[in-house]
Parts: sequence; structure tokens; C-alpha cells
Amino acid sequence: MTSGSSSIDQSTTVVIFGASGDLTQRKLIPSLCSLFCKDRLGPEVNIVGMARSNISTEEFRASLTRGIDAFEDFSPDTEELDQFLSRVHYHCGDASLADDLKGLEGTLLRIESSANPANRLYYLALAPSLYEPAILNLGAAGLANAAGAWRRVIIEKPFGSDLASAQALNKSIHSVFTEDQVFRIDHYLGKETVQNLLVLRFANTIFEPVWNRNYINNVQITVSETVDVGERAGYYEQAGVFRDMFQNHLLQLLTVVAMEPPSNFQADLLRNEKVKVLNAVRRVTPESALEIAVHAQYEGYLEEIGVPADSRTPTYAAVRMDVENWRWQGVPFYLRSGKALDDKRTEIVIQFRRPPHMMFNQEISPNILAIQVQPDEGLHIEFQAKTPDEKMELKPVDLEFHYDDSFGGQPIPDAYERLLLDALNGDASLFTRSDEIEEAWEIMDPIIQGLAMSNTPLPGRYAKNTAGPEEADRFMSKHGREWLHRDWQH
Ligand code: BG6
Repeated sequence: MTSGSSSIDQSTTVVIFGASGDLTQRKLIPSLCSLFCKDRLGPEVNIVGMARSNISTEEFRASLTRGIDAFEDFSPDTEELDQFLSRVHYHCGDASLADDLKGLEGTLLRIESSANPANRLYYLALAPSLYEPAILNLGAAGLANAAGAWRRVIIEKPFGSDLASAQALNKSIHSVFTEDQVFRIDHYLGKETVQNLLVLRFANTIFEPVWNRNYINNVQITVSETVDVGERAGYYEQAGVFRDMFQNHLLQLLTVVAMEPPSNFQADLLRNEKVKVLNAVRRVTPESALEIAVHAQYEGYLEEIGVPADSRTPTYAAVRMDVENWRWQGVPFYLRSGKALDDKRTEIVIQFRRPPHMMFNQEISPNILAIQVQPDEGLHIEFQAKTPDEKMELKPVDLEFHYDDSFGGQPIPDAYERLLLDALNGDASLFTRSDEIEEAWEIMDPIIQGLAMSNTPLPGRYAKNTAGPEEADRFMSKHGREWLHRDWQH
């Protein structure tokens, strides 16, 4: 089970490749610093950043201070920050050059306590094209294994760009590391509310009896973002919304909603159940992809720097998925995500069936359970109640839970904090296994190919700062449903 407050009691080095990048500044260092301040890193954890910029450790530390200052959710006091930074070191080098990794070993040995071999957690915060060379070079430099200590590697998304490239990457990784050394990150799994979904489902009795096709009409998973692609067009042009959000985050959310309870909260048991869900998702052919998916692009995307004038890359999509097993037969899962929309929200909405017989003479909306992944983490249950002092007039009302209210405003840690600590503790429950990644690509590949075919209509258009394209609404009405959107008041 994921650890709460344990600290690492052996000499351990976190090595970040891509240390001058945005992820290191915005997420990794602030998360490590927060863990340090909570006393969860222990006295013998060091951090070594490696990148190609020729800077000193002092300059590197100064750049990190600026990153932490800009971090809104957390601000250590000066003494804590100085203590944390004294654990941080820099090594100039290129992870795609074998000789540079041999040089890194010298720096690591100088920093690590000499009494025992130190554990090492390698974090690949690199451009995806560098994952494979970096892994192979770690192997060639003898950095992948050591007697008496562990070696682990965290790999960022995107993991491959289709099934074939993900399989090839897995193969290269397995030529250097065993699967239990590999931690493929999907930061959505580190979000507290996503973990809470496991608790909601598997630590309560009231939800399980209704969590199936007999009571649920459909499930809607929405990741709506207000940001546009900004300066990331170079990456985004290759990825599009399917590779950026669906293959990983949205499918992960689907697995957590749909999986069977594992017998134990152990990484492999949990992941076995998630793989079974992905395996049960109905596959389509590229030719039939349009029957289950719509795609669209925000107006102005073609003018973003780095985007070709004829780009077909979708920035919005909605997809229907069917999980073909006993629990979910006939219950569609609608997944949607888009950029430059009018709302930042990640939400899982479960719409129940109507009562089998209505004795009241009034049209009512079916019950809804809405899990707010972010912001305002919590959940809502919408049910019918009698309006007081009226004859028999029904009105939907909201039963709600908010983290803020129930846990005394305790700040919710960033997902990276949870995941870094789990990787340090060797707990892979919230990381994706090689077979999971490959199943997810197998689902997405034909959809991506189908929508990119030259005879498929171009992505629809939607204005920025709106709820998305009309195609997505028409798509739902074609299925006899509508997107459920509530402005939950808190
Ligand atoms: C990343 C995507 O994985 O997730 C981004 O590459 C996206 O495009 C981000 O904006 C969303 O994450 P969050 O935690 O802000 O919902």
C-alpha cells in the first residue's frame, strides 16, 4: 500500500535527467522539497540533476529557488529551503552519450556515503526520443544494477506514440531493467481523488451493489482544460489530444471506475485488474472509428507558432468506449477532453437508470454520482426530494462531500509528490505496467488512424473559451444521451 509518512532510511540518490527542463522546475523539485520539509526523505537522500547546460551546482540551485518561489501551493521557509538545496547537486552531461553517463558515476560516488552502496532512482524527464538512448546508456555504463542496493527508473509520458513504438521501447527497457525496476508515470493516478475512488468503491458497501449495468445507464469522464497549447506546439502537433490525454489519463480513469476489486492492495494485483478492463474495451477498426469518436480543433490553433497551416491535429475529442464484460455490458463510457475550453475541470459522472416505474406524475432526471477529481476535490450525489409545502413536487438536490470541509482544509499534495515517494519506497501500485500501456495503445491506435485518414472529415472547429464543438453534443444525441454538466455550488 502507498506509504504515508515513512522516510527513506538508506543512502539514496534521485538522479534527474533533463534537470534544466520545465517538469523539473515546476513539479519534481517542488515535490521533492515538500517531501523533505515533511521529513519524508530521510537524512540520506541526495538529488543530482543532469542536463547539457554548462552550469555549476550553485547556479543550478539558484535556478531551482526561482522555480520554488513561483510554486503557488507550497512555500518552504528560508532555512528549510537552504537545507533542502544543500542536498541538490548538478552534473553537466548528455544522457544520450554513453561517456557522459560514465562521468556521472564519478559525481554520484563522490556524493553518496561510501560505507554502503547507495540506492538510485533515475528520473527520465527528457524528450521522449531520448528515453531509449538514455536507458541503453545507463545499462552500458553499468548504472542499472548494483549488489546490495536497488536501481529504479521513472519514465515520463508519452510512452511511445503507438503500439509498435511502445512495444519497441518496452523491449529496450527490458534489455536493461527488469519490470519491477520500471515506474511508468501517469500523474493522474497520483491525484488524491483518483486514489479516493478506489477507497470509495472498495472500502464502502453501499456503492458496490449498484456499480454495474443493472443500475448504471452511462459513465462520462471529462477532462476539460482552459489552457491552449501555448509554447508546446512542437510536442502537441505530434501528440494531439488522443496521445496527450486519452491513451493515458482518460483510460486510466476508466480503468479505476470499471475494474473489479483486487483481493489485496498490491501493485500487481491492482494492475492485473486494470489490464483486464483495458482488454475488455471493444476494439474498432480505423474505418469504423467515426462511429465512436468525434474530433475538433480550437479556432486559432493553426496560427500557433510551430503549427503547420494544414494541421489536422485534434485539440478536442469525445469517444464512446464499451467495456465488454458482465459488469458493464451495454453501459457506454463517454470520454472527452479538450484544450482552450471555458472550464478547468476533471470529473467522472455516473448516471444511474431511471426508476423502473414512476408513480409521481412528473418527469425527473435520473440519479447522478459525480466525482470531482479537480478542482474542489470531492463528490456529489444528486437525488430527488419533495419540495416542502407543495403537494407532491419533486426537485433534484445535492448531497456533497468536499475534501476541504472534511479534512480541515489540509492541502492536497501534488500528484508528483505521492508518486515520487512511492517510487522511492518501491511501490508500483500507481504506475503503469508494460502490458497496460500496450493495451491502451491497442485501443487508441485504430481511433487515431481512422480520424487521420484522408477521406475522414477534418476536425470540427470550436471557438476558444466555449464548452467545445457542437459535434460533441450531436454525437451524444445520436446515442440518445446528453453531456451531464452541473454547476455544483459549494
Ligand atoms: C499532461 C498533458 O499530461 O497533463 C497536458 O501533457 C495537460 O497537455 C496536463 O495539460 C493536465 O494535467 P492536470 O494535472 O493539470 O490536469
